[in-house]
Amino acid sequence: MYRTHTCGELRLSDVNKQVTLAGWVQRTRKMGGMTFVDLRDRYGVTQLVFDEETNASLCEQANKLGREFVVQVVGCVNERYNKNTHISTGDIEIIVSELNVLNVANTPPFTIEDNTDGGDDIRMKYRYLDLRRASVRSNLELRHKMTIEVRKYLDELGFLEVETPILIGSTPEGARDFVVPSRMNPGQFYALPQSPQLFKQLLMVSSFDRYFQIAKCFRDEDLRADRQPEFTQIDCEMSFVDQEDVINTFEGMAKHLFKSIRGIEITEAFQRIPWADAMKYYGSDKPDLRFDMKFMELMNVMKGHGFPVFDSADYIGGICAKGAASYTRKQLDALTEFVKRPQIGAKGMVYARIEADGTVKSSVDKFYSQEVLQNMKEAFGAEAGDLILILSGDDAMKTRKQLCELRLEMGTQLGLRDKNMFVCLWVVDFPLFEWDEETGRYMAMHHPFTSPKPEDIHLLDTDPGAVRANAYDMVINGVEVGGGSIRIYDSELQNKMFKLLGFTEERAQEQFGFLMDAFKFGAPPHGGLAYGLDRWVSLFAGLDSIRDCIAFPKNNSGRDVMTDAPAPLDSSQLEELNLIVDIKE
Ligand code: AMO
Repeated sequence: MYRTHTCGELRLSDVNKQVTLAGWVQRTRKMGGMTFVDLRDRYGVTQLVFDEETNASLCEQANKLGREFVVQVVGCVNERYNKNTHISTGDIEIIVSELNVLNVANTPPFTIEDNTDGGDDIRMKYRYLDLRRASVRSNLELRHKMTIEVRKYLDELGFLEVETPILIGSTPEGARDFVVPSRMNPGQFYALPQSPQLFKQLLMVSSFDRYFQIAKCFRDEDLRADRQPEFTQIDCEMSFVDQEDVINTFEGMAKHLFKSIRGIEITEAFQRIPWADAMKYYGSDKPDLRFDMKFMELMNVMKGHGFPVFDSADYIGGICAKGAASYTRKQLDALTEFVKRPQIGAKGMVYARIEADGTVKSSVDKFYSQEVLQNMKEAFGAEAGDLILILSGDDAMKTRKQLCELRLEMGTQLGLRDKNMFVCLWVVDFPLFEWDEETGRYMAMHHPFTSPKPEDIHLLDTDPGAVRANAYDMVINGVEVGGGSIRIYDSELQNKMFKLLGFTEERAQEQFGFLMDAFKFGAPPHGGLAYGLDRWVSLFAGLDSIRDCIAFPKNNSGRDVMTDAPAPLDSSQLEELNLIVDIKE
């Protein structure tokens, strides 16, 4: 037997027990005639003590231990004189009588402790060492707990876990596909699933009724803190349901996760915001409602008073930051620079402070009378001590998105985005289509299988842009943690949808013929949703990036720096796959 206990297990009640432990040497300290070793495993750290006086040769062996050596020790549990309240085993130590070095280790390239000295790149290159750190491992433990709770919740409701294939044709979820060449079918390629969307719909046609899968999905898109090229969905589908049924089922799952993982009981229903309101008041389809700071449109108040920037604008809007009138000129200049960054693209920012006596002092005082400024103050319901920030532009949607960035920045600066506070909501009534300037045609806002709201179907021919979808997203603290829709289950309507999306009949048949055929064999009404597991875990763990809850993530260029993937193929492999590589500079 390698060990009788783990390194996180022993307590005062174990004092005087003879134990055997095994683990990694975290660090060694020599103090007078004593050597102390912190022994670590997945479960914790236990202090080992070697006493030169009682066993000089053993102590000498201990002094030679290097960091990350794998050792086994036999010893007696002893109450510690200097207790360590930071670790669970801090009341005890092991007086070692036997030491076996099971394996030696090279000096690790960074310290394997919570406050490591290793930068991002080096930690990713040696991810297996990074994963020894308790702070990283605990994220994966949380992830494990969440998947167990997800399975429990769905199993109780009769959902069946079914695996769908990874080597498939294309799924149109809006990103680019990762493709895999087929050796047996020269010149042909599989695509990796962007989601199991088509298969889960086919499972409904197969009468599975309630399906789920913790599914790997692959999307070749630009990476951000909340996006990885391969990520995991909790993917679900149900038959004989309407939007209300799906929303209730998955709101229930969210509440179950909050209770079982974070100990937070949410009794009230999540708020629902129509997409149009989310865009109008927060400039985003995933508003962070931990704080209010709603947009106020100011066209009526501020346009036409001789300030050329506003007079030529098609949208003027602002936010009111409570109690922020104390912002200095330097801070306001920095905010102006923030909105002018190319990623945001505003031309400038107007600000107005509400003084203690209620008067308004703005950066555009020379264009506006105090009366107009007071009207503006009233529009916001602003009070003494508040700060109003205003942006304008010739494209309302674009300007609202810029204002959204400013609102989030102010929320952060004013400490209103507490990671331990959660505000959950559903965004509903999405448009079915969005206009794509680049291609000059409509694209599906969710995906092409989403059904239009029955009351809007008549607009499909006359005003497709006005048609609303039976689609819904769940948003927590400004993060889209999931989304879904009620599907089209009628082959005629599905055909029409493809046509509106610019598919020729042949292409629709070629790509989705199997689905249209399936719909002709008795498809039930159905709908579903997919949660982003990585995003849920990082929210619950308070992480800034989903990378930190993925065992072996990719970096921002989509590379796995540990295995050095992707990599070129050698010529024999290329030949076997009938591929010629021609890199355009
Ligand atoms: P959607 O594309 O909205 O819907 O994806 C569902 C959820 O998956 C998560 N997600 C991601 N997480 C990490 N990295 C990514 N690159 C990434 N892309 C998406 C998000 C998102 O809300 N088939 C539909 C679902 C349905 O209609 O049932 C779908 O995939 O949390």
